[in-house]
This record gives sequence, C-alpha cells and structure tokens, in this order.
Amino acid sequence: MYKAPRGTSDILPQEQAYWKYVEGKAASLCQLYGYQLLTTPIFEDSQLFAPTVAGGQIAVDKEMYIFEDRSGQKLALRAEGTAPVCRAYLEHGLFNLPQPVKLYYLGPAFRYERPQAGRYRQHHQFGYEAIGDADPALDAEVIEMARRFFLSLGLAGFSFQLNSIGCNLCQPKYIEALRRHYSSYTAHLCPDCKARLLRNPLRLLDCKKASCQKIAETAPRITEYLCPECQAHFQSVQQYLEALGIPFQLNYRLVRGLDYYTRTVFEVGPREEGAQSALGGGGRYDNLIEQLGGKPTPAVGFAAGIERIILNLKRQKIAIPALSKPTAFIAYLGEGAKIRAIKLASELRQSGIAVIAATGAKSLKGQLRQADSLSASYAIIIGEREVETQSAVLRDMITNKQETVPLAEIVSSLKQNKKT
Ligand code: HAM
Repeated sequence: MYKAPRGTSDILPQEQAYWKYVEGKAASLCQLYGYQLLTTPIFEDSQLFAPTVAGGQIAVDKEMYIFEDRSGQKLALRAEGTAPVCRAYLEHGLFNLPQPVKLYYLGPAFRYERPQAGRYRQHHQFGYEAIGDADPALDAEVIEMARRFFLSLGLAGFSFQLNSIGCNLCQPKYIEALRRHYSSYTAHLCPDCKARLLRNPLRLLDCKKASCQKIAETAPRITEYLCPECQAHFQSVQQYLEALGIPFQLNYRLVRGLDYYTRTVFEVGPREEGAQSALGGGGRYDNLIEQLGGKPTPAVGFAAGIERIILNLKRQKIAIPALSKPTAFIAYLGEGAKIRAIKLASELRQSGIAVIAATGAKSLKGQLRQADSLSASYAIIIGEREVETQSAVLRDMITNKQETVPLAEIVSSLKQNKKT
C-alpha cells in the first residue's frame, strides 16, 4: 500500500472547511491593506534560496528538495515564499512601479526536516511582502496586519516577540562579540551549536537545549551593538506599535531561522507553547534584493503556517462556517426512472441547484443512506409511477416529511424552501 511521503499529508474533504476559512480571511485581510496576490512556481532555480537558508550553501543542500531536470538544471522545490517574490519583483520590473509594492501569496513550501507535531516536510504558508520602502511605519503596519489576521480568525492569546538584528554595519561587530562569548564555552555546547558557532553564530541564541540556553543568558545583547541608524529605526518601530495599541514583548534572543533578515525581526507565538509552535514570523530583509542581483531595495514581510493555524483553531474550539452541502440527492427505482432521474439532475444543475444523482444498483434504502451521509437537504425519489405522472417524491431529509411534486415545479419548490 502506498502512503503519502513522510512529513506530508492529504487534506481530506472534512478538513477543507478550515482551509477555506483561513484562506478567505487571508484574502480579505490583503484586500484591506492593499496587497495583491502573486503566485510563483512550485520550483525555482536552487541558487535562489542560497541567501535565505541559514548556514548558506551547506544548509541549502541539506534542507531543501533539490533535483536536476532532464536538461541538467538544478532546481529546488520552494522552501519559503520571500525569495520567489523578490525574484518575481526583479524579473517583471516591479521596481518601476510606485514603491512599496505590496504582494501576498498562499501555497506549499518544502523543507527536508525531521517531522513532528506542527513540523512537516510539506507545509503551507500565507505570506505578504512590502518591497521598496525602509520606513519603520511599514514594519509596524506589517506587524499590525499579522495581528489583525489572527484576531479575524478568532484566535486568542497569541503574542508578538520583537527584536532588531541590525544591519551590515553593526551586525558583524555583534557576531564577533557573540563568537568571543561562546568560544569560552565550546565544551558545553550541543553538537548543533558547535556547528552554529562556525557557520551561523546568531542562531546560537535560539537553541532550545537547556545547557545552551544557560550560555545564551549571559551572552552580549544585540541591542547594545546596534548602530545609531538601526537603533533609531528600532525605537521608531516600537513607537508606531505603541501608537497602534499592539502589545509586544522585546526578545533580544529572537533571531529567526532564515539568513536574510536585517533590523526588525518578529515572531508570533500561540497560547499553548511548544517546541515547533510559532504561528508565523517575519521581518525586514533590506539586503536580499541586492543579493539576488537587484539594486539595494529595502523590504519587510511576514508569513504564517496554515497547518499550525488550523491546529490552534481546533485547540481553541473555534467554530468555523461549514462548507455548502448538496441541496438534493436524486434517487430512482427502476431503469425507466433512472433515465428521468439523470435528466432531472442535469436540469436542476442548469438552474444552479447543487445535486448528486444516484448511480449503480443500490436499493432505495441504500440510496437514501447515501443522501444522508452526503448531508443533502432533500432526496428526490423517482419511480415508475412518478415517470408516468411526471412527478417526483420530495423528501425533507431532516424532518423526513415527503410530498409528491410535479417535475415542472421541483425547481421552484426547492428555491421556495430556500435550501438551495
Ligand atoms: P518561517 O518562520 O521559516 O519564515 O516560516 C513561516 C511560518 O511557516 C512559521 O512561523 C511556521 O508557522 C510555518 N512553518 C515553517 N516551517 C514549517 C514546517 N516545517 N512545518 C509546518 N509549518 C512550518 C519564512 O518562511 C519567511 N519567508 C517569512 C517572511 C516573509 N519573512 C519576511 N517575509
């Protein structure tokens, strides 16, 4: 028996109401803030993701789904949404539009990770990017938008963590200080952190191992190393957030898992904490577009994981609207009636009424059981007698009351009952 690949899952029909709900809220939010939908390919040139994945090329090869196509081109399944959006911004000359350009996306992302609750090899993201403006008011707007998104979903108790990780000027000095601090504890570091010390020292700060956390507690703080411009930008983001009434916690150890961030970084934590719990995260990435071959272009954005959101909607027992059900199920008795039943199904659909027509050789009882399991509001039953009298039995599946209705009046009868 085949199974879905490890770390992936099918989204079954009974789950789809959640997806429709979250995606609908995302689209309304973007409409409200003036973000336009951009859909990028599922795979890209694998090098596109090199500046994004912490640890550079080594991590790209380790964490991404990379393959060669028949022409020998090295491609990667989309690992995240920001780099593809920036690629499209450059490729289509969107820098010629008034800036910032505001774009959003919804779709799957692929990461070769160790699967566990809330962490998958294929997950789905809703994200948005504002490209072409360094204004700290935009950082605050992006954060406010994330908050409004979670509130509109009905989620409660989530919290915002905020930090600034500086720029090309001040970050290297901080990294040097961090290296110095950690170098005196190398014997106590976990194997991952030993590698981080060499490749990606900022990530040392968010190691979850207790022994490493202890070392992080006494580590120098980035805020003490920010250059005056980054300091002013960070202060300003906070002032805007306060003015907008957005609660946040400063977390000088928040560094994020991707490599392109500069200045503002933020993460949204759920009410119930867990190792793989962040509902979303984002920040500023003022160097990425230049790294991808464009002119220096500041940008800021955010992405949320849809699976984790749905997990929290369920945990918090949030009622979501049900998907629409078929109005009627058409059952038949006998071959002559079957032809009329199939024809009636087609006529009802022509009038915009959602129906499912029975097929196969089930008994009437079996057909009605099927109508019930499909949650159809009505069953329409046609037998030989109904064919003769040009009528059908209309049965209300909730009350089980039934009446005989002329075929010519079925549409108006269903529409009158307002269950279409
Ligand atoms: P990220 O933090 O890597 O950021 O991913 C965003 C969100 O996607 C996470 O907070 C989490 O909810 C979800 N997520 C990530 N990996 C997994 C996984 N393996 N399984 C389930 N859910 C996952 C980014 O991708 C950035 N592009 C965000 C951004 C946009 N920054 C600026 N603009």
